[in-house]
Amino acid sequence: MTTEVAERIEPSPFQARVLEVPESINLFLGGGRGGAKSYCLALMALRHVEQYGNRAKILYLRQSYRGLADFEQITRDLFHSAYGLAAKFNATDHVWKFPSGAVMELGQLEGVNDYPKYQGRSFTLLLIDEAGQFAAPSLLDRLRSNLRGPKGMPIREIRAANPAGPGHQWIAQRYVFRAAPWQPFQEPKTGAWWVHCPSVFTDNPFIDADEYRRQLEASCPADPELLRAWLSGDWSVSRGAYFAGVLDEDRNAVAPWEPGKLGDGWRMYLSHDFGSSAPSVTYVCCESPGGEGPDHQFYPRGSVVLVDELATNQPGHLDAGMQYTAVRLADEIREMADRWGMRPDGVADDAIFAQHGSQAGSIADEFKRAGVYFMPAKKGSRQSGWETMRRMLQDAGKPDVPGLYISRSAEYFWATVPYLGRDPRKPEDLDTRAADHAADSCRYALTRQERKPVKVQRIVGF
Ligand SMILES: Nc1ncnc2c1ncn2[C@@H]1O[C@H](COP(=O)(O)OP(=O)(O)O)[C@@H](O)[C@H]1O
Ligand SMILES: [Mg+2]
Repeated sequence: MTTEVAERIEPSPFQARVLEVPESINLFLGGGRGGAKSYCLALMALRHVEQYGNRAKILYLRQSYRGLADFEQITRDLFHSAYGLAAKFNATDHVWKFPSGAVMELGQLEGVNDYPKYQGRSFTLLLIDEAGQFAAPSLLDRLRSNLRGPKGMPIREIRAANPAGPGHQWIAQRYVFRAAPWQPFQEPKTGAWWVHCPSVFTDNPFIDADEYRRQLEASCPADPELLRAWLSGDWSVSRGAYFAGVLDEDRNAVAPWEPGKLGDGWRMYLSHDFGSSAPSVTYVCCESPGGEGPDHQFYPRGSVVLVDELATNQPGHLDAGMQYTAVRLADEIREMADRWGMRPDGVADDAIFAQHGSQAGSIADEFKRAGVYFMPAKKGSRQSGWETMRRMLQDAGKPDVPGLYISRSAEYFWATVPYLGRDPRKPEDLDTRAADHAADSCRYALTRQERKPVKVQRIVGF
């Protein structure tokens, strides 16, 4: 790249500041929309290419193809103005080859099924754009193992996200509220250093701010909170996690219970959300008569404790199932029920009662033949089910109203439910694109609770 060309490439003040952060620190670009984050990723890639020549191997990832096309355009503008036609883009493979031999791949990562495309490959710079589209961090975290380079060469990850996406909560927790902007901090789990670099559209001299604001206003007319998040890059908006504010580990998590220790009057039943290519989730539910649990805590009458969990997700994949048949699943469910000395019966989602084909009957029939008995969870809107779940989560720990408690042994619950997002179009509902199977199963467990109590008086007085 000649100096004359370099002069034509002009970073915004935000981008210039980002370029100054030492390479040993990973970056989180987390501002509002239009703050020049994506373009900044392209600039970081260009500098990496300039610095490391043929050792530079860059991977840029985005969840959707449409988003990828936008970024492709940014790279065409930038890389062609830097290297002219000597930088070559292969539009089929989405790979840039630079005169020095450096390469940059633009890829799509929709879900676990795309992961094998990147597995086992080495990259020296990993760029994740729109990271907020990922409801859970697990897939992105796994990609970090692909960051490897020759000795002495810094390897780095950069993630960019706007607030208010499905991943709002985990991102806010991990990158935004950890330290002040531009103050590097160490991520406790991995020990890696990160810094949060925020920007908003008014920091971007390359757009017409008034026009941009009008566009954003037009794209979310009925959602002032979303608009505020996009304009101001504020991560404290009441967005993101659907159960944030009602689910609290201190209040809702209980130490694992042992089978066979339950006092009189406790009722046990199963709740089940079916899946085969998606995970299925089954809980052993204990409903309190109003008394002590084996942990000597008092559980008000009607409280529900999920004491055991069977989640058939592939190890390390929250949203991919083990492809079990109903028969195989029934075996595992019976085994779990045996362990707890209970009859394998309970409630399940409506879908498994649908007849499929004249011979086979329904999935519920298959379960029945295999010795597992389900009733459909009580009809009612998803909405009222979620309301019950939220209310009972919130009421946990109160002495006089039923609460919802979940064993710490329910790993799949704790790996998914706290991070589930809101439906962007229906904020009162869950974003169903995320791994919502544990939440669904839990909701069925509680919808059973909504059965009207038998009016004893009338029966007696008859
Ligand atoms: N240094 C730059 N030079 C020229 N145009 C830029 C520069 N930085 C950003 N832009 C333009 O500003 C617009 C918004 O930037 P973008 O990076 O897409 O924002 P964000 O990803 O934060 O929403 C884009 O059209 C982009 O091309
Ligand atoms: Mg962007």
